[in-house]
Amino acid sequence: MMTIETKKLRKVFGLIEAVKGVSFRVGQGEVLGFLGPNGAGKSTVMRMLTCFLTPTSGTATVDGHDILTDSMEARRLIGYLPESNPLYSDMTPMSFLRFIGEMRGLKGSALAKRIDSAIEICWLGDVRYQIIETLSKGYRRRVGLAQALLHDPSVLILDEPTDGLDPNQKHEVRGLIRDMASKKTTIISTHLLEEVEAICTRAIIIARGRIVADGTPTDLKQRSRYHGAVRLKVETDGRSVDENLLRALPGVESVEFSGVEGEKVALVTVFPQKGKNVAHEVALLAREQKWRIEEIGVEAGRLDEVFRDITTREEKRS
Ligand SMILES: Nc1ncnc2c1ncn2[C@@H]1O[C@H](COP(=O)(O)OP(=O)(O)OP(=O)(O)O)[C@@H](O)[C@H]1O
Ligand SMILES: [Mg+2]
Repeated sequence: MMTIETKKLRKVFGLIEAVKGVSFRVGQGEVLGFLGPNGAGKSTVMRMLTCFLTPTSGTATVDGHDILTDSMEARRLIGYLPESNPLYSDMTPMSFLRFIGEMRGLKGSALAKRIDSAIEICWLGDVRYQIIETLSKGYRRRVGLAQALLHDPSVLILDEPTDGLDPNQKHEVRGLIRDMASKKTTIISTHLLEEVEAICTRAIIIARGRIVADGTPTDLKQRSRYHGAVRLKVETDGRSVDENLLRALPGVESVEFSGVEGEKVALVTVFPQKGKNVAHEVALLAREQKWRIEEIGVEAGRLDEVFRDITTREEKRS
């Protein structure tokens, strides 16, 4: 079982304590997403895990290999896509990948095979002999990704892997990460909450150098005040929806009119008391009152709201 474990990782840059003691474990098959505001410390944690930065204190192990005392072995296991995506711009994807592969100790037909495979899965076939400098940003990102996957590593650490990709490529790269996930241990960072929902089995929210939340996307969404809320779109035809009737239903915490469209439609959100399900009651009432429902739905919760809530609360505290 391939596990990454960090133990109170800390990093101080001059006067800035960028990472303030981060501990977590992540295992094979998991895709862990790092979320957090700009400057939160996500990339710094990744740079320490990949042995590009030495922690000020604390350490981590990759499949039992300590990043401080056994860093060669740890590095061998890891494929890393850095945020800055450093490439040799006067090389072609082919020559760059050959160079990286040789550094990784690959040779001959094994190297050729790995290069072909990386080129294929990162859709670089058409540009393999084009000078990297002349590639568009998205293609350069794909060369960076090919570099990270080249030696078929057991651990993938990808710092904003879909940054700069077009929507189709974002979709493809997410599919690729998902397909590889079962055999690997994956950590990505992202600012795209839909990406977390699409590929992450678990998310850690980092704010000001600390872990402030850790859970599955579903767990995190359940912290949203919108979790379990019933949204109604009612044709009013001049008549108003009597919100007191909704408020009086068992299990209802509060009712909000979130807007009116052209005076004909009311948008109502009914918030349940903690742990209560009010959808059935709301639907019964609507039927009894003969409301003309255009839309009705139960919200799973909103990750963006949870993110904002958790990370701004943290700012207020410090
Ligand atoms: N080499 C460095 N020297 C000094 N300060 C640094 C260095 N690297 C990072 N920092 C600081 O550490 C903090 C965390 O930076 P980091 O790049 O880890 O944030 P991040 O969470 O990845 O942000 P983003 O979402 O913008 O990528 C920031 O305040 C940053 O300015
Ligand atoms: Mg970063």
